[in-house]
Amino acid sequence: MANSNLGIRRIHSIEISVFDVEPWLSYWTRGFGFQHIATSSGDAIETSGSRRHLLRCRDLGIVLQEKIHGGSPVARFLAKHPEGISRVNFLVSDAAEAEERLLECHATPTDFVTSNTIARGQWRQVGIATPLGDVEFCFVEHTDEADGLMPGMEQTAAFDPDRDPIGLKGIDHLTANMRTLMPVIAFFEHVMGFKRYWDVQFHTNDIRPGIGSGLKSIVMWDEESGIKMANNEPLRPRFNESQVQVNVDDNGGPGIQHMSLEVVDIAKAAEHLAGSGIEFLPTPKAYYESLPNRLQASGIGDLEPPVSDLQRLGLLVDGNKDGHVLQAFCKDQSKTFGRRNAGPLYIELIQRCGGRGFGEGNFRALFEAAESGNR
Ligand SMILES: [Fe+2]
Repeated sequence: MANSNLGIRRIHSIEISVFDVEPWLSYWTRGFGFQHIATSSGDAIETSGSRRHLLRCRDLGIVLQEKIHGGSPVARFLAKHPEGISRVNFLVSDAAEAEERLLECHATPTDFVTSNTIARGQWRQVGIATPLGDVEFCFVEHTDEADGLMPGMEQTAAFDPDRDPIGLKGIDHLTANMRTLMPVIAFFEHVMGFKRYWDVQFHTNDIRPGIGSGLKSIVMWDEESGIKMANNEPLRPRFNESQVQVNVDDNGGPGIQHMSLEVVDIAKAAEHLAGSGIEFLPTPKAYYESLPNRLQASGIGDLEPPVSDLQRLGLLVDGNKDGHVLQAFCKDQSKTFGRRNAGPLYIELIQRCGGRGFGEGNFRALFEAAESGNR
């Protein structure tokens, strides 16, 4: 039975398990302009065995969690994986109702519904296991969501809802890599009630014979909230050398490869990130040399910002006459922090200019850029 309605409203927060929290705090606060507003209370650290830091920009929370002792969920995750996304929190209208529907669809809860009173509101949550390795999905009901806090945390700074130097609209999509796609698609369809939104497959073997890599990708979405989850598997030939499989290996199994943040004006956001020392993947010069022809051939036509600005900022473009997207891919965390156990997770920026899809041209550009940078 397909789950038709979990009452998901939006992604509340993304939880990232880390060995060393300081560079991550700086990355998100100095780089992306998130505000560090709360940290675990002493009691919560004692009982959970981890210290959590809540960062927020607009409606989106990032939770960085470090292990304090070995029995914690963070320690369990980090024993198997490099630093990376360990939980996605979905804001729902009613956690008990979401649990009932999840159980009807044979979801696997990781705990019973918990209920906490925080600040001015009531917080209820239930988590489930997923086929994305050790990534959990958690369904959160919060009666005073404007408050933005989470259970077990003490507020350390006032939240300024208007402070947003990158012009964040929210998460556009999350992309997961895995060795085989269909169990994950079945999970999104039958357990989460998501529907197919978009799919593509291609191999760069046609432009790089003998050294290219390929992927098959299916994007699933929740029609009600608009949340999109992209899922990739490798393609033959060179299945085990494909970037998807390399990412799965680097991650110690399937998991979330990147998080795409939608921004109002990507040129402004990119200027801010560059000024904060956050680097994008280098894009081959040839990409910009052929871009004017590609823009005309695809029907996109003249662009704002002009190609010279795209090249200066390292932005990519893809689409057709009906609309296009502008994108940029930050270097992955292991390169950014200069240590392998920081993991292969990376952040994408996207500005949608009428483009609703995930054009093959961008995927190819990402593959080509990744082959020259992010492995
Ligand atoms: Fe993406």
